[in-house]
Amino acid sequence: MTTSHDLHPLLRQRRSTRAFSPRDVSDEVLLSMLEAARWAPSCNNVQPWRFLVAVRGEGDGHGRIADLLTPSNRSWAAAAPVLMLAAAELNFPQTEKPNRHALHDVGLAIGMLSVQATAMGLAVHQMAGFSAEAARVACGIPEGFEPVSVIALGYPGEPESLPEPLRSREMAPRTRHAQESFVFSANWGTAR
Ligand SMILES: Cc1cc2nc3c(=O)[nH]c(=O)nc-3n(C[C@H](O)[C@H](O)[C@H](O)COP(=O)(O)O)c2cc1C
Repeated sequence: MTTSHDLHPLLRQRRSTRAFSPRDVSDEVLLSMLEAARWAPSCNNVQPWRFLVAVRGEGDGHGRIADLLTPSNRSWAAAAPVLMLAAAELNFPQTEKPNRHALHDVGLAIGMLSVQATAMGLAVHQMAGFSAEAARVACGIPEGFEPVSVIALGYPGEPESLPEPLRSREMAPRTRHAQESFVFSANWGTAR
């Protein structure tokens, strides 16, 4: 990938892989990922994130979360040794008023988790392609919490192991919009 400016190697290396190695993720490693999420900043430090964690081979949680995914996501994500469902607490617990940064803060926590994962040689792939309604039932998510994303986690595998068209997508260069298209001066739409 070609960056326009200097970038930390961890951010350069992070990518949403679809090819996972069958290698198990130890509890110690998994706890480090969740510790990274735990130390994310959040509005009023209310820490609105919740993570439902399912490890392949431990009970039926992995299968239940895999079943929530769209068929195209399930086709590769079911091979990840860990699946997590991230949810957000929508109201401030003290006041019960809406926390309009709840989803933001869950995403931020997952960002921290993703960097920790990269630093430890693992890969994270977030997915919006799942049924939030089915997740409420399958995982017993209570009122006031919103399912945000499903996260596949594991050690990266061989892209060649994927069927087409996943293989080509996996090997395609990562691309981004130019900074000029999203960085403005204090006046919207005007170049800095
Ligand atoms: C909230 C969110 C939802 C996503 N949903 C999906 C998804 O359902 N299926 C999928 O294959 N990738 C999904 N992605 C991954 C993006 O497609 C990916 O981050 C983007 O293409 C950039 O690639 P990179 O993460 O490798 O840089 C999602 C990413 C995020 C942050």
